[in-house]
Amino acid sequence: MSTIDNKDVRISFLGGGNMANALIGGMLERGFDAGKMRVVDLSAENCARLSERFGVGAASTIGDEFIDCDLLILAVKPQHLKAAVAPLAGRLGTQVVVSIAAGIRSTDIARWLGGYARIVRAMPNTPALIGAGVTGLFAADEVDALGRESVESVLSSVGITAWVEREALIDSVTAVSGSGPAYVFNFIEALEAAGKAQGFDAETARKLAIGTVLGAARLAAGSEDSPGVLRERVTSKGGTTAAALASLADSGFMDIIDRAVAAACARGRELGDELGQG
Ligand SMILES: NC(=O)c1ccc[n+]([C@@H]2O[C@H](COP(=O)([O-])OP(=O)(O)OC[C@H]3O[C@@H](n4cnc5c(N)ncnc54)[C@H](OP(=O)(O)O)[C@@H]3O)[C@@H](O)[C@H]2O)c1
Repeated sequence: MSTIDNKDVRISFLGGGNMANALIGGMLERGFDAGKMRVVDLSAENCARLSERFGVGAASTIGDEFIDCDLLILAVKPQHLKAAVAPLAGRLGTQVVVSIAAGIRSTDIARWLGGYARIVRAMPNTPALIGAGVTGLFAADEVDALGRESVESVLSSVGITAWVEREALIDSVTAVSGSGPAYVFNFIEALEAAGKAQGFDAETARKLAIGTVLGAARLAAGSEDSPGVLRERVTSKGGTTAAALASLADSGFMDIIDRAVAAACARGRELGDELGQG
C-alpha cells in the first residue's frame, strides 16, 4: 500500500524533450498535479509547447521555484548532463535527484552536484512513450524508502519498473530493455523481409510481422508458462516450426542475442567512463 499521494509530489524536470513529455503525459493520467510540475528547457519554444500541452510551469533558466521540489528529474542527453546540472551545485537540500541519462554514474553526478548524493538512476525505454515502458531503477544508499517509493510512482506511470541492487546492473538493464526495443524492431524487419521474399506485398508482410510479435508478446505476458514452454507447445515434432527453430539454432540464435546484449553492456560502461570524466 503506497504512502505517497501522487497529487502532492512536486516534480521538476531538467530537459523537456521526448522522455520528459512521455513521463509528464503518463504522470498526469496517474493523478500527479500539473500545477506542481516544473520544466527547465533551453528552448523557449519547447517551454511554450510544454506549458500549453500539459499546463506545467516551464522556463529556460533554473530558478528557486524549480529547485524547491521533491523529485528533480534529469532528462537531458548524457553529453549535456554535466553542464546542465552545474547551476544546481550547492543548492540542493532534500530532493531526490533522478537521472534518466544513459551511462553516467551516480558518483559522477554527485560530484557535479557539489557532493549531493541523494540520487536514483532510472533507465526507461522508448515504449514509455505509449505507456508500455520498462524501467530499471537503482538508488544510492542516501535515498530513503519514501524517496524510492516516489520515484517508483513516477516511473510506473509509463510502464513497469524493476529495482536493481548494484549500479553496474543499470548497464545491463540498458543492454536488455533500454536498447531492447531496437532488437525487436530489427527482428520485425527481418521477419518482414523474409515475408516479402516469400511473395507477400510490403503491406501484408509488415502486418504479419508486427502482428505476430505483438500477439506472441501479449500471449507470453499473460501466460503462467515460460516462453520456452510456449515455444515447445507450438513446435510439433517434424513440423514447420521445428524446421525453422532448428535453422535458428544452427545459426547460433541464442548466442547472437547474448553477444549483442554483452556488446551493449560494454558500450554502456565505456560511455560512463568517457562522459563521467571531469
Ligand atoms: N528516448 C529514449 O528512449 C530514452 C530511453 C532511456 C533513457 N533516455 C535518456 O533520457 C534522456 C533524455 O532523452 P530524450 O530522448 O528525452 O532527449 P531530448 O528529446 O533531446 O530531450 C532533452 C532536452 O533537454 C534540453 N537540454 C539540453 N541541455 C539542456 C540544459 N542545459 N538545460 C535544460 N535543458 C537542456 C534539450 O534541448 P536541445 O534540444 O535544444 O538541446 C532537449 O529539449 C537522455 O539522457 C537519454 O539517455 C532516453
